[in-house]
Amino acid sequence: MSLRKLKNSIIIQKFISTCMCILWCRHAALLLLLVPRRPSHGNHNEALSNTPIKNIIRITDETDMAIIPKRTNISLRGPTTQPYVRPKDRCPVVSGLAKCKGSKRKWVEGLPPLYIITPTYPRAEQIPELTRTGQTLLNVPNVVWIVSEDAPAPTPRVLQYLNETSLRTIYLRDRMPAKYHAKEHKPKGVANRLAGLQWIRDNAKDGVFYFADDDNTYDIRLFEEMRWTKGVSMFPVGLVTDFGVSTPIVNDGVVVGFYDGWISKRKYLVDMAGFAVNVQYFLSRPNATMPFRAGREEDEFMRSLNIEFKDIEPLVSNCTKIWVWHTQTKKNYRAKAVPAKYMHIPTNGTNLDEIKNLIWRGS
Ligand code: UGA
Ligand code: MN
Repeated sequence: MSLRKLKNSIIIQKFISTCMCILWCRHAALLLLLVPRRPSHGNHNEALSNTPIKNIIRITDETDMAIIPKRTNISLRGPTTQPYVRPKDRCPVVSGLAKCKGSKRKWVEGLPPLYIITPTYPRAEQIPELTRTGQTLLNVPNVVWIVSEDAPAPTPRVLQYLNETSLRTIYLRDRMPAKYHAKEHKPKGVANRLAGLQWIRDNAKDGVFYFADDDNTYDIRLFEEMRWTKGVSMFPVGLVTDFGVSTPIVNDGVVVGFYDGWISKRKYLVDMAGFAVNVQYFLSRPNATMPFRAGREEDEFMRSLNIEFKDIEPLVSNCTKIWVWHTQTKKNYRAKAVPAKYMHIPTNGTNLDEIKNLIWRGS
């Protein structure tokens, strides 16, 4: 057998690779012994205070902390002597409507109220969107949620949801005028927002209002910022146009213009979710209103408020953060009836009797 054949034979190759493996493992073990151990979190601060390059280490530490959340002192009870007992339903379902008497959220004295005006309309996504927006607002104190529906009649499930939530809610309804129904670009949510504005004129005395479409995404920190608006405040909105954001341009704390993908002849290039207005400021402008002009609603509303650029209050650290997004939900169509061939078992008297009523079948 030639030397080459010997080198290529399977037995020799296996022998060589086993040797290489053993050698590699020994080196790896040696290397592991030589690498200095990273101080554990317990004595990390000590390591920081003794080192001349502490800033560099601190940055590493912060990066780690962003990935591994800080441990909090949660006392876990360990093996419990008493078994957990599930409390009785605090909101017993009475004839399909949960009754939670006295469950309205506490009002914090001294904190300006926030009037959140949400236009909505009946569709498959309506209840999911209202659930998401409502549960965001549950994290915010002193909120009055004005849900204003564009519908020929109140949608029972919307009323039911508003009755079940512990938020303070106002239900209003106003339809988009019929002449706009066939238009390609409809003034969406205008009639019902106007109903919200009229409610503010008739009922509110102070605080701040904000138009929160039912399908956007809100970081609750935004609400604490807008609560202190004196006139008109503004802030960036993410996921708007091809630019990915619509924001005021702020120089030295002053709004000097706008960055937005849709300019046209607008003066205030602001999205509906990008501003909040002080109630008293609004009440002192009796002509302030929103037009039925698709794409012009925000601009003309701002013009009717008669606000100058220098008086706009830029929020979220001079508009350097995005705390609201113009998210859009995929359209879902009317659910089909399940063909009889899929009904393998009799369903009368089962949960499906109830579930069927919760499926969107169109109005
Ligand atoms: C964009 C803007 O972000 C909105 O602020 C603006 O009102 C709207 O365009 C407009 O065309 O004027 P977009 O996501 O395209 O929003 O619109 P939707 O989310 O479909 O509607 C905006 C709000 O109006 C929502 O809260 C929606 O529930 C409500 N709406 C929509 C109605 O009340 N009626 C309708 O027929 C359609
Ligand atoms: Mn939307």
